Order: sequence, then structure tokens, then C-alpha cells
Amino acid sequence: MSGFVWLVGSGPGDPELLTRKAARVLAEADVVFYDGLVPLPVLALAERAQRFSVAKRAGGGGTSQETIHRLLVRAARRGKRVVRLKGGDPFLFGRGGEEALALAAAGVPFEVVPGVSSALAAPALAGIPVTHRGLASGLVIVTGHGAASYRPVLGGLRPGDATVVVLMGLARRAELAAFLLARGWGAGTPAAMLLAAATPQAWSWTGTLATLGAAEIPDPLRRAPGTLVVGEVVSLAALLQRSAPAAAPEYLQGTSR
Ligand SMILES: C[S@@+](CC[C@H](N)C(=O)[O-])C[C@H]1O[C@@H](n2cnc3c(N)ncnc32)[C@H](O)[C@@H]1O
Repeated sequence: MSGFVWLVGSGPGDPELLTRKAARVLAEADVVFYDGLVPLPVLALAERAQRFSVAKRAGGGGTSQETIHRLLVRAARRGKRVVRLKGGDPFLFGRGGEEALALAAAGVPFEVVPGVSSALAAPALAGIPVTHRGLASGLVIVTGHGAASYRPVLGGLRPGDATVVVLMGLARRAELAAFLLARGWGAGTPAAMLLAAATPQAWSWTGTLATLGAAEIPDPLRRAPGTLVVGEVVSLAALLQRSAPAAAPEYLQGTSR
């Protein structure tokens, strides 16, 4: 008997941002393979499942992608109901596409359960609408992991054409800001750093492209995940920001930049 794999997005941190379908498949799962940024209360919904961390470590190490593919296929072939649980949305910088391809190649039936991505939730919770009439009619999401990833995309944009959201870009914020400035973006273009969004530790900084590179992150948040936003829409945060959610348990059991 063949099992089944659900590639599930856990949302950005707040367990109340989980979809109902994700909650149901977690409750029904026999096995869960989860990533580092999965909220603990979401993982706890998989009450009857065996749970295995397959987190990668910042800078390399941890479970290899090939091992993850093998684990998923093997568990499904043993007839298990398998959940592959990822932070945010499984198909946005989560290597969910590769896992879906590996399952398809192995003939394992699977379904994707989309999640609320931090790329949208982090700005939204900080009072930044990523598009706004008169300020931004489009949005570009890139990874800041390496210049080779973001340069071809951001280099093709005219300054101010779209809101830019950068995941995994905190460590390269100075380089990213310098790149945009060199491409003609104004030094006064508003910019934001949004850390640990949708968790009780949520912290945000707003400034400009000129000040982003030197912006300091408080020590306790040095390992927290963070999202960068660049564009005029960031100026709305001053009007739309609300306080962090009320007391809640520790949401994130791992961190990644
Ligand atoms: C490997 S990517 C995965 C993104 C995920 N699939 C999604 O849709 O949110 C991880 C990056 O997402 C961003 N991120 C994840 N959780 C976040 C949070 N709670 N607050 C701010 N950014 C977050 C950070 O840029 C982090 O380095």
C-alpha cells in the first residue's frame, strides 16, 4: 500500500496563521519531517505522529536535500501518511518544488498545502501593504542569500518600480542597499527590517536605503529570521503599525537568516 505526502506550509510563526487544512493533515499524520523555522505549537498538532527534524544549518550542514527526498519516499512507500512541514509557504524559497519533483519521480502521491509566507505576513504585520495605489503597483521577492540570486532580478528593475522584499538577506543588507543605490534608487527610499514577525519577539526597524546597511540588530535577535522591505510603501508603517500580539508561547524552535 502506498502512503501519501503532504508538503505543508506552517505559516510565519503565529500558530493562528496556520490553514485549517494544514491543521487537519497534521492531526492525521503518522510521520512529520520538519524544518528549523516551524512554530512549536504547530508541530504539537501532529499529536499521534513520529516527528523528525530535518533542519539545515545556516552556512551549510544539517540534513542534506537528497536525504530528505529519500526519507519522504521511504516513509510513503511504507504506507505512512507523511507531512513535510516547512516555514511559511512550501514553494517560496523552501525547496518544496524539488521535493515535489522527487516525489513525482518516485511515483509517490502528494499534495501541496500552501502556507502564509513571511514575505507577505512580515510586512503586513508591520503595517506595510506591499502594494498600494500610488506608491507601488507590484512586488518582487528575492533571496539575499547570494548576489548571483538577487542581482539579475533587481538589476532589471527601474528604481521604485516595485516593492522589493528580500528573504535571507539580513547579513547582506549593506551589500543589497549599495547595489540598489548604484542602480539609481534614491538614498531616501524607505526601507525596513522585520525580525521574528508573527511571534512575541517581533521587532522592526525602519529607515532608508542610505541607513539600512549600518542599521544595528539588538543582540537577543541576532539569530532571529528577518525580512527586508524596500520601497515607498514602507512609509505607511508609521501610520499602520500595531503592537505585537499579546503573550504567547515560544513559537520558533529554530532560527535561520
Ligand atoms: C528558507 S526561507 C523560507 C521562507 C518560507 N518558505 C516562507 O514562505 O516564509 C527563510 C527566510 O524566511 C524569512 N522568515 C521566515 N520566518 C520569518 C519571520 N517570522 N519573520 C521574518 N522573516 C521570516 C527570513 O528571511 C528567513 O531567512
